[in-house]
Amino acid sequence: MCGIVGYLGNKEATPVIMEGLKRMEYRGYDSAGLAILDKGKVKSVKKAGKLQNLTDELKTHKITGQVGIGHIRWATHGAPTDVNAHPHNDCHNELYLVHNGIIENYQALKEKLAKAGHEFNTETDTEVLTHLIEMYYQDIPLEEAVQQALNDVVGAYGLAVASTREPEKIVAARLGSPLILGIIEKGEYIIASDVTPILSHTREVIYLEEREIATLTPEGYNIRTLDNKKVEPKVDNVDWDVDQAEKLGYPHFMIKEIMEQPQVIKDGLRGRLEPEIGAAHLGGFIEQDKRWRDIERIIVIACGTAAYACMVGEYMIEEYAGIPTEVEIGSEFRYRQPVLNEKTAVVIVSQSGETADTIASLREAKRQNVLTFGIVNVVGSTLAREVDAGAYIHAGPEVAVASTKAFLGMLNMFALFTLALGRQRGMSVVTGQRIAKELLALPDKIQAILEKNDDIKKIAEKYSKYEHAFYLGRKYNFAVAEEGAHKLKEISYVHAEAYPAGELKHGALALIDDRFYSVMIVPEDSVYEKNVSNLEEIKARSGVVLAITTEGNHALDDKADDVIYIPKTLEMLTPLLSVIPLQLFAYHIAVLRDCDVDQPRNLAKSVTVE
Ligand code: AGP
Repeated sequence: MCGIVGYLGNKEATPVIMEGLKRMEYRGYDSAGLAILDKGKVKSVKKAGKLQNLTDELKTHKITGQVGIGHIRWATHGAPTDVNAHPHNDCHNELYLVHNGIIENYQALKEKLAKAGHEFNTETDTEVLTHLIEMYYQDIPLEEAVQQALNDVVGAYGLAVASTREPEKIVAARLGSPLILGIIEKGEYIIASDVTPILSHTREVIYLEEREIATLTPEGYNIRTLDNKKVEPKVDNVDWDVDQAEKLGYPHFMIKEIMEQPQVIKDGLRGRLEPEIGAAHLGGFIEQDKRWRDIERIIVIACGTAAYACMVGEYMIEEYAGIPTEVEIGSEFRYRQPVLNEKTAVVIVSQSGETADTIASLREAKRQNVLTFGIVNVVGSTLAREVDAGAYIHAGPEVAVASTKAFLGMLNMFALFTLALGRQRGMSVVTGQRIAKELLALPDKIQAILEKNDDIKKIAEKYSKYEHAFYLGRKYNFAVAEEGAHKLKEISYVHAEAYPAGELKHGALALIDDRFYSVMIVPEDSVYEKNVSNLEEIKARSGVVLAITTEGNHALDDKADDVIYIPKTLEMLTPLLSVIPLQLFAYHIAVLRDCDVDQPRNLAKSVTVE
């Protein structure tokens, strides 16, 4: 939600900031703006709508200066208008601030500041924070004023502030929203909400911790805590490739990321699978080997697509490691009274590692002292750093708002995690070897499905006019039905509902008519016959069915209206194949309906607010 970027150095700041915002556009696209400082003067330009509007505006407003801050917005407080766009400024046009997060007590602060004579021009919580800093910014340096203001704030922020009074300085702070400092060289810095704007400038980064404030000047950088303790930060090296964050000739990031999935599996398995002995070597798991031996219950927590991956993980773990496992949605878990004990482990799953509800759930679990394990894609993200141990997904940067390759990477990690747990608890070598062998065969099988892209596009053409869809599956593939429906909803705005196929007859079957089609995931697995009965129930009511089944099974050719075939694999791994046609199907439907595939309306990639 929202992205901020700041630059201080000897280059022109505007192109650096605009390139950074472009890379983070998936975080929000309601409006964008920047403020550039030049010898004590400031110019700020803000435009509602997509970043392109700001780009166009800058063609007529040339701005020079080597210090600047920029913002891409996903609106929380105040409509997405020019005036509500960031940066926000104080009463004297001296202070400029960009902010990702929510100031929860902004109303009370606003009243107090209004009484003191501050005037507000926007409906945003961020403007209030700008005036609060102004109130403290009397005869003290900017960083001290920011520090004092933030001590009054309840809420979450990743922010950057610049001032015409100290034009060669940027102050940045974080609490609850990510912020990364890239060190280009001494006196040249870039800060951003994620690593993608930084990659083309430097690989040396500092992940700011909660309640830390960084001050950047040509003389160097300095990091202190909100209570003014000096911090000796750890400088990390990011190994992500700039090319991975580019479209590389594809029309959309989503299709590029779908096509990358064979590689995602390979990268996730590399160095972790031991096929000869049927075992998985997950560093983070081995570190906590003893603690895992005592675990009697696992709770897996995530949001959205990651939560559907967890549903598959739940079935894998229970079937192959025999540990009772429950899936919890982050936004629910954090406000319940979860009953945890020393024999409970919490597994946290997230692409971004910055999802606010998932982070809050992790912190609740840690407060109760349970073992925590993360399955996370973004290296160095908040979740990755706060779990006791974990396994990176290794899917590379995922830019499209609709998650595809990260979902597959999560399933890959769950399979490895299950193997590691299972072997610790009596899974036979033979079973382990079978899982390992099938995992290694996945990239080719996924590739074979991807090669059916044109056929799937033709099928999508038939279905693109419908406004309603059911997605149905059982056991491992119920979660895939959820994920398939989720993909269709978020990028094509079609009403799609997922059901466990056997549940349909308890009510939803009444919806079947000629305006509804059903996507049925019916691989030849242990529930195949049951699934086929449900398919027949739909056909008996003249419902239209698109079936996903196993190659070689032609029993559905006459029953379903269309059939897509996926290669055979172990039942626990079928989701890693059955989801691929559903991703492609949703993608083509969205393109055919002329939707903004990579940046669907009302959404943002990283949900860093509640
Ligand atoms: C995925 O297509 C969605 N955009 C969304 O549901 C996402 O999976 C969810 O917000 C969780 O994100 P995370 O994996 O970064 O925590």
